Amino acid sequence: MTEQLDAQGRLRHLLTLEGLPRSVLERLLDRAQAIAERGAGAAPLAGRAVCTLFFEPSTRTRMSFQRAAQRLGADVLNFDASTSSTTKGETARDTLKNIEAMGVHGFVVRHADNGAVDALAAAAAPGTALVNAGDGRHAHPTQGLLDMLTLRQAKGADFSALRVAIVGDIRHSRVARSDLHALRTLGIGEVRACAPAALLPDDATLDGCALYDDLDAALDGVDAVMMLRLQRERMEEGLVPSLEAYHAAYGLTAARLRRAAADAVVLHPGPMNRGVEIDDEVADGPQSLILRQVANGVAVRAAVLEALLGDPPAAA
Ligand code: NCD
Repeated sequence: MTEQLDAQGRLRHLLTLEGLPRSVLERLLDRAQAIAERGAGAAPLAGRAVCTLFFEPSTRTRMSFQRAAQRLGADVLNFDASTSSTTKGETARDTLKNIEAMGVHGFVVRHADNGAVDALAAAAAPGTALVNAGDGRHAHPTQGLLDMLTLRQAKGADFSALRVAIVGDIRHSRVARSDLHALRTLGIGEVRACAPAALLPDDATLDGCALYDDLDAALDGVDAVMMLRLQRERMEEGLVPSLEAYHAAYGLTAARLRRAAADAVVLHPGPMNRGVEIDDEVADGPQSLILRQVANGVAVRAAVLEALLGDPPAAA
């Protein structure tokens, strides 16, 4: 794996939250909180260029990285695989190296393959920084960070007494994987994972979690519910009998949410399948933090880009 930290412990790339020290994670969250409250200051990335290099579709992630880069004063270039020479067979590596040759040293990369962003980071020149904006089902570190910032704002920075349920298509979810790494690093009290057996991961993702196949039981008394999209584009046929059956067993309805703590909050990374994993009443209801997550995404991504591309802090 490409090293994310340099010899001084500074972030060179952000590829995964797995193994990222708690101090680094908390520093990013603190900085994101400060940016959310007070802005990023006077164009710390003026003269730098950031390219969003997306080989998979995106709405929130791409646009919030663009917004974040703009707020830092960076120039923003957008690469879209569907209108690029990718359609002529150019590899992701050649694409990156060519844009790098134009003087671009910040890349936000999304790709359908697990590990693809890591491989591109290994091919990048020294001084070029990559952020993983989602690779296959492997990792989506800035989503994990923005989920932690949102939880922290709602419940305080001490997670040790918190009970969180992660519900839905965990098997195909890079969001769940990044959330789980971050929750563990931040000392979460209890994580419950709830999914039908066919949508449970076949790797170590859920080590240490309490497993539930019954959503009502999983929700009992929890402080936060992290819902996941049913990711049909990543799914082999037949994992879910029908959308109606899935909703009946695993859809978050207002009635079900009443089983959670009275002040429980609901998160969802988007895009939502309304009426499948989550009902309108919940998605748009008073306990939903879904649009707060989106707002936090800009601040988190600004904090990450600044850490990667900004001037190192002056020595004390
Ligand atoms: C997620 C993704 O792409 O992994 N979306 C996002 O970035 N907010 C979740 C999903 O697609 O279900």
